[in-house]
Amino acid sequence: MPLILGIETSCDETAAAVVEDGRLVRSSIVWSQHETHAPFGGVVPELAARAHVERIDTVVTDALVAADTTVRELDAVAVTHGPGLAGALLVGVAAAKGVAVGAGIPLVAVNHLEAHVHANAVDDDAFAPPAIALLVSGGHTMLLDVTVAADGTWEFDLVGQSVDDAAGEAYDKVARFLGLGYPGGPEIDALAATGDPEAVVLPRAMRNQGYDFSFSGLKTAVVQAVRRSDAAGTPLPPRDVAAGFQAAAVDVLVDKTVKAARERGRETVVIAGGVAANSRLRAQLASECEAAGLAWTMPSVPLCQDNAVMVAACADRPAEIGRFASLDVGVEPSLAIAKAKRI
Ligand SMILES: Nc1ncnc2c1ncn2[C@@H]1O[C@H](COP(=O)(O)OP(=O)(O)OP(=O)(O)O)[C@@H](O)[C@H]1O
Ligand SMILES: [Mg+2]
Repeated sequence: MPLILGIETSCDETAAAVVEDGRLVRSSIVWSQHETHAPFGGVVPELAARAHVERIDTVVTDALVAADTTVRELDAVAVTHGPGLAGALLVGVAAAKGVAVGAGIPLVAVNHLEAHVHANAVDDDAFAPPAIALLVSGGHTMLLDVTVAADGTWEFDLVGQSVDDAAGEAYDKVARFLGLGYPGGPEIDALAATGDPEAVVLPRAMRNQGYDFSFSGLKTAVVQAVRRSDAAGTPLPPRDVAAGFQAAAVDVLVDKTVKAARERGRETVVIAGGVAANSRLRAQLASECEAAGLAWTMPSVPLCQDNAVMVAACADRPAEIGRFASLDVGVEPSLAIAKAKRI
């Protein structure tokens, strides 16, 4: 059973982890660049790539040391090769190739989005597809029907996705508008906990229309509600705006996820991606799954955010069946989720 070093550098986290059998986490090191990008209110690609270059060696070494292992004991090295920022991805892929060549071990190229969904199997030994997955991150909002292929790898059918902004992007934009820090998701989550989710009622876009999502109108509705009340001399408390925004976003996410599971006959629901760390999303999904008689699994909060454990976990089955990448594998900034066909 494989012992795999995972490497993740697709955006603004430099991460490495050693995972055994896809579930046993021997080490996980995540170095976040949030402080580098915070002054700009978003990720600056050139700064991200440079910061990865500065940290990658230390992060990989720390992961091996913390796992009490060496490259010689590894069965494979796995790396995110897309989607993500080209310059950032290049750093991880180059580092992984270096380890592969230096240690004489094979390389597995991992899709970052599939890796996010695989985080669910790390924390929950019992979890295996089929399941409906809600992937909500900084760059993506997707409903996926996840099944196991004949070779044991997971397959993903695209049930629905955002037609405009990703959920995380909406959190970050609304946070910036409210003058909160970057990344905005955790800030809104914390502020919303102190507010009244019903004080500012915002639209639930496309709630009863299929499985696609739209979040750009919600952000505009927040801006308009705040400006209208400011102009009327009755400014809205930011905590109520945050709570109202979060309630509107989460209602639609949870509704469509539960509906997809019911209509596609799936008994289990999972969530993945940075926004899956959101406290309201986690609580509401659990209670609505309970009410609908569905089982659910959620990664722990650290495994929702970008990390390398999920990369190593995602590479476990491909490594077992020998699905390795060639050493000239490139980065794929716009990589789609594998086999995702619209259904
Ligand atoms: N508690 C939270 N509530 C809501 N959003 C959150 C929370 N924690 C993090 N986020 C959001 O998650 C996003 C980051 O997630 P992630 O790191 O998975 O995205 P990414 O890797 O940049 O994008 P992708 O995975 O689509 O390539 C940010 O938009 C951040 O604001
Ligand atoms: Mg991510």
